[in-house]
Amino acid sequence: MGKTTKGLKVAFVGSECYPFVKTGGLGDVMYALPRALTREGCSVRVIMPLYNCIPEKFKKQMKYVGSFMMDQTMEGRTFYVGIMETEMDGVTYDFVDNREFFDWGNPYTGLWEDIPKYCYFSKASLAILNYLEWYPDVIHCHDWQAALVPLYLKTKFWNCPLKDSKSMLTIHNLRFQGICGIQHLKYWSGLSDGLFDYPVFKVNDDEANMFKGGLAYADAITTVSATYAKEIQTPEFGEHLDAHLRYHAVRMKGIVNGIDTDIWDSSKDKLLAAPYDVTDVLEKKWENKEALREQLGLACGEGKMVLGLVSRLTDQKGLDLVDAIFPQIMDGNTQVVVLGTGDPRYENAFRYYEEKYKGDVCAYISYNEGLAHRIYAGADAFLVPSLFEPCGLTQLIAMRYGTVPIVRETGGLKDTVLPYDAEKNEGNGFTFDRYTPENLLQAVNNAKTVFFTDRPRWDAMVKRNMEKDVSWEQSAKQYLAFYRELKA
Ligand code: ADP
Ligand code: GLC
Repeated sequence: MGKTTKGLKVAFVGSECYPFVKTGGLGDVMYALPRALTREGCSVRVIMPLYNCIPEKFKKQMKYVGSFMMDQTMEGRTFYVGIMETEMDGVTYDFVDNREFFDWGNPYTGLWEDIPKYCYFSKASLAILNYLEWYPDVIHCHDWQAALVPLYLKTKFWNCPLKDSKSMLTIHNLRFQGICGIQHLKYWSGLSDGLFDYPVFKVNDDEANMFKGGLAYADAITTVSATYAKEIQTPEFGEHLDAHLRYHAVRMKGIVNGIDTDIWDSSKDKLLAAPYDVTDVLEKKWENKEALREQLGLACGEGKMVLGLVSRLTDQKGLDLVDAIFPQIMDGNTQVVVLGTGDPRYENAFRYYEEKYKGDVCAYISYNEGLAHRIYAGADAFLVPSLFEPCGLTQLIAMRYGTVPIVRETGGLKDTVLPYDAEKNEGNGFTFDRYTPENLLQAVNNAKTVFFTDRPRWDAMVKRNMEKDVSWEQSAKQYLAFYRELKA
């Protein structure tokens, strides 16, 4: 059980959480924000599925807390709900155990299965709170997988002590919404017919949208940067929900993500060849750069700038721009290290460049935590040219590790990376606005110019970035204030 404090009680409901399961930034936030809220005096429980892929070492630490049967679906079929629990640094983690839904290799296995899985998960999360008699002030739900929580709370759970809890739904990525046939969602959610009309789930005569329904019913909506909060109210970024979001905008705030500065601490990072802080970054970064290149089979020695990229390889991340200018980046003084998996189109493009520019390009097509740390530390600059980016954590980690980001001015990238200004000698990185290969190339070339011709200014930026506050502290306080507003 979570420790009792006089602060607010908050339940986090989401589909992934580091270190148990992580496929992207949602997993990082589900880990770091509860810890930051605990430091602010809150009592936090995180509820997530007990996927089969959770490493055995974590499963062994969990204890069985209880189980019950829960009705789900239009026909009222009953399903087992087991609760496995563990505690880490003051945060309680409750895992929803049901082999029928979660016994797959990965968390996400395709929408046809994911819709039933997350309908069940959303309802089971509330049923677990009820079972444990732990009634939160706020139930903080994340992305479409937890979007039915606000609806269940106001319908199926209206008649129990949980009804006093407020719900908050955070949009981490509006591109994924949980859209399916109306009958499929009606059947698996077991929610009443009236909700399948236009203001709530309905998209058109055939389809229903889980995220849309959740956003309509949540007491509060947040997203992960102020700029993305504005962007998603426009047709360009709204993923067809811009009008819906404009309608609900009075209940919406943008609060920028942070990173966990204990995990991302270059002075204590055991995964690095040479841990460092701001006082010795310049020498030690060089050691990390050499170690990284040696590990990856790249040419070592002076005179070359290393560009890093750690990312899901999808259209969101602006990789078509990188692909388009790759030959122009490779000017003989530049090396590129890519770590990621995803769309075969990008995986193959980067493999091709590795072959073509042997010794200067590494395409590491895989998911690898250790290597990610070594790239953040060993690269000179870091590419995040996203088409859209709700917040983005990689540019924050890069800055923390004294690596200069090259980003597109969108979403959280715009809010966290101040453009370099040579005259004032300020800023954190190199930015571009319009989504064109030429604009990205210009930003990369600007970075190269400063790196090769004005090293004192570059080095000052490296140090400035390391000292920038990218922790969760300020943002956790903003969430807390919003929770309090909801309870008032
Ligand atoms: P998104 O959630 O859209 O993928 P974020 O920038 O918010 O993007 O978060 C990505 C997180 O996943 C970061 O912690 C990053 O280091 C990590 N990551 C992405 N790809 C890989 C990879 N191939 N190996 C290791 N870590 C990765
Ligand atoms: C999503 C977004 C990313 C954000 C992360 C955590 O995956 O793509 O921009 O940083 O969620 O909020």
